[in-house]
Amino acid sequence: MVPDTVVPFVPPTQFSPRVFSGVQPTGNLHIGNYLGAIKRFVPLQDSFECIYCVVDLHAITVWQNPNELKHNIHEVTAAYLASGIDPKRSIVFNQSQVSAHAELAWIFNCVARLGWLNRMTQFKEKAGKTQENASVGLYAYPALMAADILAYRATHVPVGEDQKQHLELARDIAQKFNTDFADRIAELDLGDSFFPLPDPLIQGPAPRVMSLRDGSKKMSKSDISDYSRVNLTDDADTIATKIRKAKTDPDNLPSEAAGLNGRLEALNLVTLFAALEETNIDAVLSTFGGGTFSVFKAALVDVAVAKLAPIGTEMNRLMAAPDYIQDVLRDGSMRARVIADETLNHVKDILGFVRG
Ligand code: AMP
Ligand code: TRP
Repeated sequence: MVPDTVVPFVPPTQFSPRVFSGVQPTGNLHIGNYLGAIKRFVPLQDSFECIYCVVDLHAITVWQNPNELKHNIHEVTAAYLASGIDPKRSIVFNQSQVSAHAELAWIFNCVARLGWLNRMTQFKEKAGKTQENASVGLYAYPALMAADILAYRATHVPVGEDQKQHLELARDIAQKFNTDFADRIAELDLGDSFFPLPDPLIQGPAPRVMSLRDGSKKMSKSDISDYSRVNLTDDADTIATKIRKAKTDPDNLPSEAAGLNGRLEALNLVTLFAALEETNIDAVLSTFGGGTFSVFKAALVDVAVAKLAPIGTEMNRLMAAPDYIQDVLRDGSMRARVIADETLNHVKDILGFVRG
């Protein structure tokens, strides 16, 4: 079963609540990115100050074609806006325009321990068997992610389940910094601790969407098979074809959730249906349990097209107006810089750097 993980948030007294999250502009934005992350960003705008970043510095930890990178930065921005992120209420920007991220990341490279980074499973997966050939950036990636969050002293970080370990590392870095410099932080009158310990918000029915070709593998932008994922810019026909071709097993759908145990592909498709319809697995099975996959898949196509096609259409419309996207990113970067630079200046004072 995919757990419906809700990580309770206990507000720290010293820090006002603030949300930060990011998505890499590496192309092939898919329904997993949407259901696990972007869709969840939207309602948070009603309760929090939100900062949503296009993390282009993270993207270059593996080589990116410069022309495609530019297109992909626009694509993630368009996905944010098309999904309902309001660039007036929230800050929307790309990471490389705010130099404090890279500066704070360096400082965090000096706080994080090699042993901590050695444990990161994403590095092991992405570097594969050829770790010697992986970039140093890919290895140090989680320290940059901690810098993204802590530059804004963000308290809540909505992400998919695959980012949980990176969030724990960000908390460890914040904690070690607070402890290592506790005297200095007190001396400068910067509160009991300087950084909050950011809380992951890993919520909703689909924190980990699996590949349509293999229910044991995470749906991923980098899977060589385009049939493994539904992309946000897929048109209705493509969505229908991909769902019809999605792997299943020979049995009918079960009537109860327990019947999905060990049936990874069936569980994934039912979970997708539940997440798109904003319902739960039991409700989906009460309608489709006992029936065939072909009936269920036809209904899933209808829901997926109804929910995703308008987002894809709006993304394409926005991407055809790059000037507007540029304006959003410029305005967002200016607003982000004010907050991040202030944090960085405090950090420099805490460390004992001289500022002219
Ligand atoms: P990335 O594409 O790695 O930048 O991921 C952007 C966001 O999407 C992060 O919050 C991820 O945790 C989330 N995400 C990526 N893949 C999936 C997936 N298969 N299921 C759910 N969430 C995902
Ligand atoms: N590492 C995240 C991913 O691959 C993207 C990311 C970078 C991020 N910086 C972040 C997510 C800060 C949340 C907060 O999905």
